[in-house]
Amino acid sequence: MEQYIIKGGNPLVGEVTIGGAKNAALGILAAAIMADDVVTIENLPNVRDINVLLQAIEAIGATVDRVSDNEVKINGSTIGCLNINYEFIRKIRASYYLLGALLGKCGKASVALPGGCAIGSRPIDQHIKGFEALGALVTIDHGTIATSAEKLVGNHIYLDVVSVGATINIMMAASRAEGKTIIENAAKEPHIVDVANFLNSMGADIKGAGTDIIRINGVSKFKKTTYSIIPDQIEAGTFMMAAAATKGNVLIKNVIPKHLEAISAKLIEIGAEYDDAVRVIADKRLGGTQIKTLPYPGFPTDMQPQTAMLLALSNGNSMVIESIFENRFKYVDELNRMGANIKVEGNVAIIEGIERYSGAQVSAPDLRAGAALVIAGLVGEGITTVDQIHYIQRGYE
Ligand code: UD1
Repeated sequence: MEQYIIKGGNPLVGEVTIGGAKNAALGILAAAIMADDVVTIENLPNVRDINVLLQAIEAIGATVDRVSDNEVKINGSTIGCLNINYEFIRKIRASYYLLGALLGKCGKASVALPGGCAIGSRPIDQHIKGFEALGALVTIDHGTIATSAEKLVGNHIYLDVVSVGATINIMMAASRAEGKTIIENAAKEPHIVDVANFLNSMGADIKGAGTDIIRINGVSKFKKTTYSIIPDQIEAGTFMMAAAATKGNVLIKNVIPKHLEAISAKLIEIGAEYDDAVRVIADKRLGGTQIKTLPYPGFPTDMQPQTAMLLALSNGNSMVIESIFENRFKYVDELNRMGANIKVEGNVAIIEGIERYSGAQVSAPDLRAGAALVIAGLVGEGITTVDQIHYIQRGYE
């Protein structure tokens, strides 16, 4: 079993260059199969989730040429199979983006239904609602979701919940539907904008991505393109928390500061030094605060564990409210084993700051929580061993 063994106690000082955004890359790779030509994607993060999705893309017959760790060429003209099997969905939920992409391109697709996951139940009713609004028939049988349409026709779709996945899936299918689609109450995350920009670079006509109303005029064909993925906001945020927690001084390079505003505002509020370069400096114990996770531009749920880990070291009390996923505090027991004083009541964590962590053997319950435990290990006195690191490798180079 692979583990990280961490000897804590040193401040992190230096520079780090952030890679391409994993969650943007997942949407973009799926969308890339919609062209019948070679699409080149640069600034690809070399992480496990991406490598699994590329295998799923190869398994349906698309041609995948991994030029280097950070660049891939995909040609969707060779696709032969419209069925994504459970092996891929089990490893990576976002394989379901191939449903929207194949429905848009071929008018037909099926994929094993994703189950719940470590951070909670994750329904896909809004994806289905969107496909149906475009005229597709959607059936669920023997654990598989199948969708087909003689032809997709644009429609006005109002999402009941703000969903990143549903916005991307519907955007892909609608970009090849006949006529105009309007998605209201769309998610506004930076990776929604990146997927839309990528689709537009292949010839799609999508306007308004990044606002809550996205307008799409369907087109009949996509063309070849070369596209570079935006930097990963969550990877950057994770290093920001690592700098602050270890009382370090870290310059975080290749980021879009605008995407980090919710995170940097909190760091400044609790007393860290921050400049737009982006550099995070903490030379003292920081203060406590309150945080509530929200869809972008609110505080990202994917930064919740790393931030709670920092607040648990603060000179004061804090409260963290998780409003997106119901089961995202599983790491708290592990942090408490390292000395933290955190109580969870439903979707609220109440945190009383402690001076420092003490090293222990802990287990990563999911990707971002795993990152939080690694940072706690860097702060901790003595040795920390982190198990289940395959979760962490899903999203961090
Ligand atoms: C994406 C991110 C994930 C991040 C999350 C929230 C990817 C690959 N993953 O996940 O890292 O934590 O956004 O920023 O980009 N919901 C429904 N019905 C649906 C879809 C979602 O009720 O059909 C609910 C979910 O249960 C959740 C909320 O909507 O409570 C937000 O989920 P969503 O934005 O869809 O998250 P993902 O796209 O799965």
